[in-house]
Amino acid sequence: MLQNTDEDIARAGAILRRGGLVAIPTETVYGLAANALDGDAVAHIFEAKGRPQDNPLIVHISDLSQWAALVREIPDRAMALAKAYWPGPLTIILPKSDIIPDEVSAGLDTVAVRFPSMRTAQKIIDAAGVPLAAPSANLSGSPSPTCARHTMDDMRGRIDAVLDGGDCNFGVESTVVTLATEVPRLLRPGAVTPEELREVLGEIEIDEAVMGKLKEGVKAASPGMKYKHYSPKAEITIVKSTLEAFCQFTEQMKDKPNVFALCFDGEQEHIPLPCVTYGRESDALTQSHRLFTALRELDERGAGVVYARCPSTEGVGMAVYNRLLRAAGFSVMKL
Ligand code: TXA
Ligand code: MG
Repeated sequence: MLQNTDEDIARAGAILRRGGLVAIPTETVYGLAANALDGDAVAHIFEAKGRPQDNPLIVHISDLSQWAALVREIPDRAMALAKAYWPGPLTIILPKSDIIPDEVSAGLDTVAVRFPSMRTAQKIIDAAGVPLAAPSANLSGSPSPTCARHTMDDMRGRIDAVLDGGDCNFGVESTVVTLATEVPRLLRPGAVTPEELREVLGEIEIDEAVMGKLKEGVKAASPGMKYKHYSPKAEITIVKSTLEAFCQFTEQMKDKPNVFALCFDGEQEHIPLPCVTYGRESDALTQSHRLFTALRELDERGAGVVYARCPSTEGVGMAVYNRLLRAAGFSVMKL
């Protein structure tokens, strides 16, 4: 484990430069980084995660000036978006330039780029001296890691190093928007909300994979969205109801083994099941910060069946709902 010191950041940079893999902190989740311009190094990311080969990676930069070399051109609307929300939890997709290896784009003709705001992430990219391809640093299919311990739990023995930069601020992955389509399209919701995107871009489309399950045979615009994701071992069902109805419903379950509730802070006193909490009901940022940790906690406590209180889908809540929906394998009930 590397620490958040100048010496260790320099070490991380050296490992990355010679083609190694380092898990790094960002303001969203931990990323599993490799030199984005080295196809062989990037191929090792897929091996370490067990990631499907058709799922492209995000390229991380530490200065706006590094973007131009990665894409065919930067249209005005893309630059306006970057000026508004970079550095930060936003990924922008554009047609790629020739220096992007096929391993990064997974055969697509576009590339996703993000300029993270966490200072430590920027320093590691600077130390490496190259842009870094980095998916979330979890084993494919499990919740994204939001602290160094979760990263270690998944990646021990599979990569060269983890750099501990503390807890991630947002706790869910970046907003992904493509500007390679005529109308900008939101592919994955995150901390930069649809309203914030509209302020700069005007009209945007929300991909159907964001709030529901893709229909059989429909090609995913964002390959990552078609996989069951963020899943703890437990079987989760999202319950749309009032707290009162939720308590009545769970009352019938309380004598069954390994049945848990995933609820909002303070609700544990009312719910007759063992509970794991994921933030305040009225505050989506606390929910995004907690959600993946809560999912891992359910596993650690041996949950078999989980009933989850449903978050609001407003603002950042859309990202929380999107991740929880995938963790639940799209299982939702209404009381
Ligand atoms: O916050 C984040 O974005 C984190 C941190 C480490 O930066 N990274 C992350 O990467 O979440 P990953 O690989 O777990 O998710 C990237 C998502 C996937 O759903 C992938 O399919 C999509 O972005 N994606 C990447 N490149 C794409 C492209 N060219 N076209 C469409 N979707 C793309
Ligand atoms: Mg991921």
